[in-house]
Amino acid sequence: MNNTNKKVIIFASGSGSNALKIFEYFNNNQNVIIDSIYCNNPRANVINIFQKLNIKTVLFNKKEFYESTFLETIRNTNPDLIVLAGFLLKIPEKIVSAFENRIINIHPSLLPKYGGKGMYGLNIHKEVILNKEKLSGFTIHYVNQEYDKGAVIFQKKIKINEKETPESLSSKVLKLEHENYPLIIEKILNNEGL
Ligand code: GAR
Repeated sequence: MNNTNKKVIIFASGSGSNALKIFEYFNNNQNVIIDSIYCNNPRANVINIFQKLNIKTVLFNKKEFYESTFLETIRNTNPDLIVLAGFLLKIPEKIVSAFENRIINIHPSLLPKYGGKGMYGLNIHKEVILNKEKLSGFTIHYVNQEYDKGAVIFQKKIKINEKETPESLSSKVLKLEHENYPLIIEKILNNEGL
């Protein structure tokens, strides 16, 4: 990737707070364009956020996602980077192959721990606390054919205190995600070492 006019598309399924932070971070950057938001959930708050911001939102269902025409749609958009920000469907293998090392995800645990199917949202933080872990955090990783198993790009750890609840841990981790995900995206777009 060279460092001018990078096009980013974001996939999100839920509240969209990371997607918004990413958008805000690059809003005044002429070299990075948040082109569009792809969402599989018509009730997701991320749709409201980005419609108000006049950013193209593409809504699709699970069946459409796994059809080959979907890959063509993405190819036509020609993104430099595909960013998953709270996106819960597994990325079809054809898309992973077509965009090798150009799809990244953020996950609210220290992968490989607490990853895989069913591991999202508060489920993760409940398990972490139940298992009396001393540390948690988030992981940014490349997306490969296996759920939550692509090469790790960046992890941030935080200590878990004795009074921690799944809710308090969730909000601490989310805040860290907001602070770090845009910076890591920028480094990847600029081909900077991490
Ligand atoms: C974030 O904590 C993200 O790490 C997590 O969903 C949340 C989305 O919040 N992603 C996963 O669990 C992926 N398996 P947001 O919609 O407010 O950005």
